[in-house]
Amino acid sequence: MSALLSILLPLLLVLSVQHSSAQAQDEPVVLQPTLAESDRVRAIAQPVARTLLRTIREELTHALAKGGPVDAISVCQIQAPALTQQVRDEARPSGAVFSLKRTSNRLRNPADAPDPAERQALQIYLEAESRHEPLPPDLLQKVETAGKTTYRYYQPIRVAALCLSCHADPAALSSDVKALLRERYPQDQAVGYRDGDFRGLVVVGLTLP
Ligand code: HEC
Repeated sequence: MSALLSILLPLLLVLSVQHSSAQAQDEPVVLQPTLAESDRVRAIAQPVARTLLRTIREELTHALAKGGPVDAISVCQIQAPALTQQVRDEARPSGAVFSLKRTSNRLRNPADAPDPAERQALQIYLEAESRHEPLPPDLLQKVETAGKTTYRYYQPIRVAALCLSCHADPAALSSDVKALLRERYPQDQAVGYRDGDFRGLVVVGLTLP
């Protein structure tokens, strides 16, 4: 028995060390970009983030006025990904922006889940909100993954009155909206918000030319 252990134990140790170093390689290293890099990242990404938020807000306002929240949910579900892709493709210089999304710590659509770098950014905003400090207007990261450098640009998304028909406390939602949300997003966590709350982040992923 002890002879078997003396063979097995070192083997197990080696295996577990290999496992953790492989994990460490996949984990992104998140750094602070230099001021010069930040200026260049902001110049490309800020208009993209603003355009996305403005476009989604316009679409929602339009859809709510036309068909009310139940229709607007379908518009949101179908349009949000298409709009996001369109805004990303129109970004200049072309090819610099390789990803564009919205993410949150309280998700409606699980496809919007944050990756490790995005979780760090969310954490910074959540801590600022819990300390009642003003939220940073944007946040930048230099991300190194497997020897490749990319940048992330974030802008906070706040809840406005317009958002409440679909993101307020369930008690305040219409029964039609509640039923549709339950059907399409059975794991919905994105309710219970009030006007002005931090809702999530726009994330622009880019490389510098
Ligand atoms: C008509 C209902 C409706 C309104 C109004 C609405 N949303 Fe949403 N929201 C949704 C739906 C549905 C999704 C999931 C979209 C999808 O499936 O891609 C969503 C997703 C999101 C997401 C992506 C993260 C996640 O949880 O999946 C953010 C951020 C968000 N909404 C913020 C807002 C903000 C801010 C407003 C107000 C400006 C707003 N929403 C107004 C229905 C709505």
